[in-house]
Amino acid sequence: MQAENKKINATITAVGMYVPDKILDNKYFESIVDTTDEWIVSRTGIKERRIIENGASSDMAAFAIKDLLSTTNIKPEEIDVIIVATVTPDMFFPATACLVQEKIGAKNAWGFDLSAACSGFLFALQTGAALIQSGAYKKVIVVGSDKMSSITDYTDRNNCILFGDAASAVLLEPTSDLRYGIKDSLLFCDGSGKDVLHMKAGGSLYPATKETVEKRWHYIYQEGKTVFKAAVKGMADVSYEIMKKNGLKPEDVAYLVPHQANLRIIDATAERMGISRDKVMINIDKYGNTTAATIPLCLTEYYRNGKVKKGDNLILAAFGAGYTWGSIYLTWSID
Ligand code: UT7
Repeated sequence: MQAENKKINATITAVGMYVPDKILDNKYFESIVDTTDEWIVSRTGIKERRIIENGASSDMAAFAIKDLLSTTNIKPEEIDVIIVATVTPDMFFPATACLVQEKIGAKNAWGFDLSAACSGFLFALQTGAALIQSGAYKKVIVVGSDKMSSITDYTDRNNCILFGDAASAVLLEPTSDLRYGIKDSLLFCDGSGKDVLHMKAGGSLYPATKETVEKRWHYIYQEGKTVFKAAVKGMADVSYEIMKKNGLKPEDVAYLVPHQANLRIIDATAERMGISRDKVMINIDKYGNTTAATIPLCLTEYYRNGKVKKGDNLILAAFGAGYTWGSIYLTWSID
């Protein structure tokens, strides 16, 4: 139900980001596991990732939101809702959104966490957009924040080279100018992917015990090759589908904004869409896979570098644990 039956879109009106100072480069990984800079760059595209030394996902989310607010005249108490996409909440409860609410002083907001791994930002963005379109809320913060270093096994060369820590946020507000904002989404989940990408213990299925710790079940488990194949198909198909559904040709799309898990998955998606590399947002080389933060981090950096313009059509796309995957089509509205 929309306010006064007047159609409105939800649109991104501000962006912000936080990346920790500490850098782990590929040389560092050469010193802790059996790997090489050449292997990591050629198989993943990653050169560096950031690690937070003091603090948790709520701290990074709060820094990103403060960065966002500093670009606006909006006060924290004007925020209606905070949605935190994360698989690394500070703790099971209270929700990270509550901790963020306190840290930024959003005293009139409610909020919740959303768990959809690497698709978390897309799922949260669609949820936030629906809250705006309902007419009930005017200012919704969607933040992706993941401290992947807290669940990464730094003795597992298959996975430890992939992940980094970061947070990034967007503000959603209503617009009655329907040329702009979030226009369509295709989102999916399929629990049959649970066996090949998960963190097994610490939940109600396998509460923490000495045994779960010894079996390293509190770390990310990933069968890379299987996930890789599913990700290439999932992300490429859904990005192509959303273009087709909305009658978009490659020349109508200013940027593909892909989840940053592997440069080869990104390239395969762009190829399927018929989009050249210069129209793909990429920062995996600097940050690795920061799970829910990758897509807003790309949006923030490219916008601040003057590369995204008002009126640009963007296709956001992600694939991750669950499986979860999807794409969102939006038209950028910030000058
Ligand atoms: O964001 C959530 C979704 N996740 C993803 O999208 C990640 C999907 N998967 C991937 O990105 C890739 O599968 C990886 C980057 C994880 C691995 O790349 P790959 O080309 O699929 O390599 P592989 O797993 O087939 O391994 C190839 C070889 C293996 O050696 P053998 O069995 O051929 O002798 C691995 O043991 O590379 C070896 N290997 C490494 N070698 C050097 C695995 N990790 C490393 C390493 N350094 N860090």
